[in-house]
Amino acid sequence: MTEWSVSTRRLRLRQFKKSDLEALLAYRNDPEVSRFQGWGSICSSEQAIEFIAQMSSREAGQVGWTQLAIVLESTGATIGDIALNTLEFEPRCAMIGYTLAQEHWSQGYAMEAVTAILKHCFENLNMHRIRANCDTRNESSWRLLEKLRFRREAHFIESYYEDQTWCDEFEYALLEREWFGLTQSGRGGQRHYG
Ligand SMILES: CC(C)(COP(=O)(O)OP(=O)(O)OC[C@H]1O[C@@H](n2cnc3c(N)ncnc32)[C@H](O)[C@@H]1OP(=O)(O)O)[C@@H](O)C(=O)NCCC(=O)NCCS
Repeated sequence: MTEWSVSTRRLRLRQFKKSDLEALLAYRNDPEVSRFQGWGSICSSEQAIEFIAQMSSREAGQVGWTQLAIVLESTGATIGDIALNTLEFEPRCAMIGYTLAQEHWSQGYAMEAVTAILKHCFENLNMHRIRANCDTRNESSWRLLEKLRFRREAHFIESYYEDQTWCDEFEYALLEREWFGLTQSGRGGQRHYG
């Protein structure tokens, strides 16, 4: 089986491997990382092994959830993951998610990884619309989306229940023509991102 990956200046997004188990368990079980993720509080070894087995042969753009490991090129360390959910009824529309281990926050790695997956979606997979949502208290998440020029389209009030509290969510989206910096009439404009 050929390995699928996308490289950026400092990172590689690639399929999960068995050797990612320890890193995956460490960041998924960090309460600060899982706080707004709705995974439940604990990811067991069995769940992580199953997750890696499911994700190890998936490619971005396949229908359903694909999660890719984010790996530091300099050390080979797995520092988080990027999720892409391609819709079955409209495969040109997808949802993204992203997670970094806490020690790798505030270094621009999320921006670099999400930019790479958006570039792949719009420029290679011919996607039309990418959406993302987050808890309104997850400021680092919605600030990231706004830096990437996602548009806040909704504020859902008490839309999900977690830890005995009803929580609000923001909904964001970015269109293909916004990525390319174009009007609806054609291609050829400048890209927004490096
Ligand atoms: C959401 C999440 C991925 C955002 O990570 P992040 O570290 O804030 O984002 P980045 O990696 O892009 O880092 C951006 C910050 O790094 C700083 N930075 C440092 N070096 C940088 C560099 N070389 N390039 C770009 N930015 C750099 C930026 O100034 C920016 O700081 P600012 O937020 O004060 O403007 C992270 O908080 C996370 O994993 N949270 C837990 C999981 C989660 O909630 N996921 C989202 C669910 S909806």
